[in-house]
Amino acid sequence: MADIALMTGKNVLVTGGTAGIGKATAVGLAALGARVAITGRDRIRAEAAAADIRAASGNPAVDVFTADMSAQAEVRRLAGEVLDAYPRLDVLVNNVGGFWAHRHITADGLERTFALNHLGPFLLTNLLLDRLKASAPARVVTVSSGAHAAGRIDFDDLQGSTTYSGQRAYSASKLANVMFTYELARRLDGTGVTATVLHPGVVRTNFGADDQAGLIKAMLPLVRPFMKTPAAGAATPIYLASSAQVERVTGQYFANGKPKTSNKVAYDTTAAAQLWKVSAALVGLTAVPTPAERTTSDTRGHDDGDGPKTSTARSIR
Ligand SMILES: NC(=O)c1ccc[n+]([C@@H]2O[C@H](COP(=O)([O-])OP(=O)(O)OC[C@H]3O[C@@H](n4cnc5c(N)ncnc54)[C@H](OP(=O)(O)O)[C@@H]3O)[C@@H](O)[C@H]2O)c1
Repeated sequence: MADIALMTGKNVLVTGGTAGIGKATAVGLAALGARVAITGRDRIRAEAAAADIRAASGNPAVDVFTADMSAQAEVRRLAGEVLDAYPRLDVLVNNVGGFWAHRHITADGLERTFALNHLGPFLLTNLLLDRLKASAPARVVTVSSGAHAAGRIDFDDLQGSTTYSGQRAYSASKLANVMFTYELARRLDGTGVTATVLHPGVVRTNFGADDQAGLIKAMLPLVRPFMKTPAAGAATPIYLASSAQVERVTGQYFANGKPKTSNKVAYDTTAAAQLWKVSAALVGLTAVPTPAERTTSDTRGHDDGDGPKTSTARSIR
């Protein structure tokens, strides 16, 4: 993990920076000199975390934004506030994520795991993309999980409405993080903005504490001592966000600071394009076709009918 570039002069947004891996990532990037913004749901908790991050990093430049990222209106408000606050954005770390043993529904009527772990970062990234491009070289780093390896995207039941299992929903959402990153990297080709995705390791955090499965709850005290510390879990996101070694690396999955092969499903470009399109519809954005889709549509010589769905629909890449 040597050769971490100094981040002085860079603006970084870490979602879910109030605890766990996100907070440790914020400490690491602030210690390298970046101005770091963290997000959390609660202003008091987020301000307390920011104070800790300033103290631990020795860097006073830590800002706070609040939003429940499972709610699309809040993600849109957050993006607007970030765009107002930062004329440039060098790194976006999509870290927020959660696990629920039981099925919960968001303010938008969507299953919470899919909404928070996949649609939240999908929408936020797209809303910040023009600013990232204007700030290039820039990076989008997304925290997935090794659990993505067991994931399967069921396009007929993305909301887990027929049968729900917390583990299945979580693995699918983390596979979606990987597919999103690979597709994003393809769409960002030539822009100077990279997209990478990672497994942080098994880390001792508050993860899943709201609604744990009985077995996990029973096992946790036994395995906790063997888990990574949040600082160790933050090593790979910090590396991908800052190191010169990976300045031009894009469309890759990392674990333990090294590129790794992901679930082979994630390399299916047709499925990734489909996921992008479905996600864009679910968050009310208009999906700009992939280069491959554009060629096909040009050959056919007609509009693919994917125009704005509402007057507030925004174009995304
Ligand atoms: N821990 C592990 O072993 C492990 C392993 C593999 C992957 N991961 C991934 O690592 C990422 C971070 O996990 P962690 O273990 O650090 O979790 P954590 O300790 O539970 O921290 C989660 C962070 O996300 C924020 N958050 C939670 N729900 C939110 C919501 N609805 N809207 C906005 N912010 C929300 C929390 O802030 P507030 O509560 O203050 O709002 C907190 O800052 C996740 O994407 C997870 O899937 C973790």
